[in-house]
Amino acid sequence: MPTRMRLTDIDLLETLSSPEYDKFLEKFQEHRFSRKAILFSPNDEKNLVFLVKSGKVRVYLAYEDKEFTLSILEAGDIYSTHTRAFTQAMEDTTILVTDVRNFQKIIAELPAFGLIMVKVLGDLLKNSITIINGLVFKDARLRLAEFLVQAAKDTGITVQQGIKLELGLTTEEIALMLGATRQTVSILLNDLRKSGILERVNQRTLLIKDLKKLQEISAGF
Ligand code: HEM
Repeated sequence: MPTRMRLTDIDLLETLSSPEYDKFLEKFQEHRFSRKAILFSPNDEKNLVFLVKSGKVRVYLAYEDKEFTLSILEAGDIYSTHTRAFTQAMEDTTILVTDVRNFQKIIAELPAFGLIMVKVLGDLLKNSITIINGLVFKDARLRLAEFLVQAAKDTGITVQQGIKLELGLTTEEIALMLGATRQTVSILLNDLRKSGILERVNQRTLLIKDLKKLQEISAGF
């Protein structure tokens, strides 16, 4: 996961800990979950909003044997239970829960909550677009990942940050090798960059930062 650009440096937990906001905190209930526990699932039919107090929460879609991670929530992030996503504790986690109606009142008085929501939803949207691209360009994505994994084995140079690939190929030339269009390869490389899997050093050189992830993609995950 790449570090998120911070839309806001507001620390909700710190804000809420000041005495003037006691009336808000009073309306939240604390719940603890151990690592791997499911917090909420889409069929819960609850309409709650929660604030992560400590730990990490994975937001994901699950279909049969496939899972798509939409976001990873950290302390201070807000999420809700009325979405089609599951939420799971990635480590021991404590959340503060309130119902949507109460949250509506809070948000009117504390606009910081709205900003945090925009940040969380922005991250969700970013990862959703990457997932859509992956599904739309499924075959090309697989072939690109296979090509990069092979190139890493053949000519990759191990450097501190990962594996440097001096491909000497433009995006257009890679596209020709994969039987895809330049636009498709360009979108897919950009998605891999946004997911923190690789970086573009220059026009013809890539840096693979997460070979394991790339291998998973090439294996069809
Ligand atoms: C005042 C509090 C909130 C209200 C009144 C509210 C209301 C709603 C409503 C009416 C929908 C449409 C549900 C449907 O399609 O049946 C929705 C969807 C959604 N809300 Fe909220 N919401 C609130 C807080 C939040 C928060 C805090 C988050 C996360 C940061 C959030 C994330 C979402 C998402 C991701 C969806 C799309 C659900 C899906 O289609 O799977 N909401 N919300």
